[in-house]
Amino acid sequence: MRSLPPKSPAESESSVVASTTKSLIGEVSTNRDGGHISEPSSQAALVASDVTFAYGMGPAVVKNVTLTIPEGAAIGIVGESGSGKTTLASLLVGMLLATTGTVTVRGRPWSAVRRRDPLRRAVQMVFQNPYSALNPRLSALSTVAEVYQCCSGATKADAAKRARILLDRVGISRVALDKRPCDLSGGQCQRVGIARALAANPSVIVADEPTSALDVSVQAQILNLLKDLRHEQGVALVLISHDLNVVSYLTERAIVMEKGVVVEEGLTTDLLQSPAHHYTRSLIASIL
Ligand SMILES: Nc1ncnc2c1ncn2[C@@H]1O[C@H](COP(=O)(O)OP(=O)(O)OP(=O)(O)O)[C@@H](O)[C@H]1O
Ligand SMILES: [Mg+2]
Repeated sequence: MRSLPPKSPAESESSVVASTTKSLIGEVSTNRDGGHISEPSSQAALVASDVTFAYGMGPAVVKNVTLTIPEGAAIGIVGESGSGKTTLASLLVGMLLATTGTVTVRGRPWSAVRRRDPLRRAVQMVFQNPYSALNPRLSALSTVAEVYQCCSGATKADAAKRARILLDRVGISRVALDKRPCDLSGGQCQRVGIARALAANPSVIVADEPTSALDVSVQAQILNLLKDLRHEQGVALVLISHDLNVVSYLTERAIVMEKGVVVEEGLTTDLLQSPAHHYTRSLIASIL
């Protein structure tokens, strides 16, 4: 389990996430910190530098995105459907490689990190659909124990013991430990998915719409869990949502994406209360 001390709110607020983009129509993102756009830092947990991505021969769906995720920070990515959030998430976790530009994890570009390199575990993803993200044949306990065995070489007994402790922490009761995804609720599956991500001892968790497939009654529980775990574990969080309210609950800073371009970035509360870009304003209006 990661044991970094949690960052104080003040430290997190001062953490720098710089994000700028030059879109194909020549628009430059609005930076809310007096126009100063920070350079990406190789000391950060994750850095995307001028990243552009196109699927096959298609048009670019992520365009010139630069984004720094400092250790322990919480960054939101918002934008309407099709704006490129999941594609950017996939680039951040190394599932996709940038067409141009680079994403570096602890200073190393994903293109140079082999499939079995332990560094791959440093960035974990929590998916939108918790059912399909889990192996249907594995119980909750086995799902998490498998990660301990694979990542830290724990014995089967030790891995099971550690998995029980972690699953208890994320709110999976003893009776649910031996259940497979089909016998768990959506909220329980998402808790197992979060535990599986944490078992890999990551520096960063990228959560792509982690509550949008869940009942409203369960959404707040999962968001609270992510909030608590982030502070307890010191893990950085990238939270993707089309909902600025959800993002503002969990993150200090956020970027707003439109058609693959970052059109605005800054403190999440500022974005919500006084959006500078018309797209951010329309995004807020659409969820009110
Ligand atoms: N595998 C793929 N092949 C080709 N195009 C894709 C693929 N996945 C996504 N796209 C396209 O890339 C663009 C960005 O999609 P993406 O899924 O990243 O958006 P999103 O912001 O996550 O949307 P949503 O809020 O609906 O999840 C869209 O135009 C989409 O159609
Ligand atoms: Mg998506």
